[in-house]
Amino acid sequence: MFLPKKVKIVEVGPRDGLQNEAQVVPTEIKIALIERLAEAGLRVIESTSFVSPKWVPQMGDNSAVLRGINRHPLTVYPVLTPNLQGFDAAIEAGATEVAIFGAASESFSRKNINCTIAESLKRFEPVVSAASALEIPVRGYVSCVVGCPYEGPVSPKKAAEVAKTLSDMGCYEVSLGDTIGVGNPASIKRLIEACAKQLPIDKLAGHYHDTYGMAIANIYASLQMGMTVFDSSIAGLGGCPYAKGASGNVATEDVVYLLQGLGIETGVDLAKLAVVGDWISSAINRPNGAKAGRALCAKTTE
Ligand code: HMG
Ligand code: MG
Repeated sequence: MFLPKKVKIVEVGPRDGLQNEAQVVPTEIKIALIERLAEAGLRVIESTSFVSPKWVPQMGDNSAVLRGINRHPLTVYPVLTPNLQGFDAAIEAGATEVAIFGAASESFSRKNINCTIAESLKRFEPVVSAASALEIPVRGYVSCVVGCPYEGPVSPKKAAEVAKTLSDMGCYEVSLGDTIGVGNPASIKRLIEACAKQLPIDKLAGHYHDTYGMAIANIYASLQMGMTVFDSSIAGLGGCPYAKGASGNVATEDVVYLLQGLGIETGVDLAKLAVVGDWISSAINRPNGAKAGRALCAKTTE
């Protein structure tokens, strides 16, 4: 059975996690979280999004967060930028990497970014060219790659088509978002097969929400197919404000525990990470969604 030697983890908790908290998390807590995640060894931390504060008030302190981080020299701090207005604001605040986000379902695209898929791709073009002029790497997301909260099942072909457009546009990596966590190893395998026909598998990442508890199994299936980049969220924080009922991303602690067990290198210190997950869960008064994190913290406090 094929398994990679090394995996890159993209920590999305401070953005995907905290964007969905009912309460607005204080800026100092967000900054402390990002700094502690870097100390635990995470080298990519998606830190905030430059979207409309009317749509997502939880990310309204984007500039203050990005400016406030005491940056680790080996870590990058990408941010979401849906349009040129967001991109300009992100650069002004010191962003060195950005992400654009589209969808494989029309209804989700309209609810999430207020335009059709075709319109969104047009809107991304000037963002990618502005980024390219400044040598800023751009990551792409495709949401609803398996299912949509409004339209039901989504065809792997449609997801692959949007992924290819983003890659052709200049995204160095395209993250496949199972936004509502309905995927299972069989549907994820079909998805990756379809996408890998359109672009190299080393340009694809898995972004699996854990609504149905399948995310770890989906990562294991994806690893066997050659995928080596996974997005995850500390303590399983989050969801998506435009996908009601969707739970958070797979917990980073659980992913690191899996990879460590398989002998795959991540560069992350699991013991430190578990402490960070426990800390943020109590700081924002929610249960710790990481099973491995809870188990490890229970051991250390015995
Ligand atoms: P719009 O209303 O269509 O934009 O929003 P507009 O260009 O018509 O502008 C309307 C107003 O928004 C104006 O303000 C603009 O200035 C403002 P007004 O004159 O009314 O006061 N505006 C902005 N403000 C701040 N930053 C900006 C910006 N752009 C316009 N960048 C827009 C379009 C995309 C901005 C809006 O729909 C939006 O912000 N949506 C939020 C999307 C979002 O953050 N979703 C969650 C993240 S995606 C996700 O979670 C999925 C992912 O995790 C993968 C997965 O799991 O599938 C990535
Ligand atoms: Mg997400």
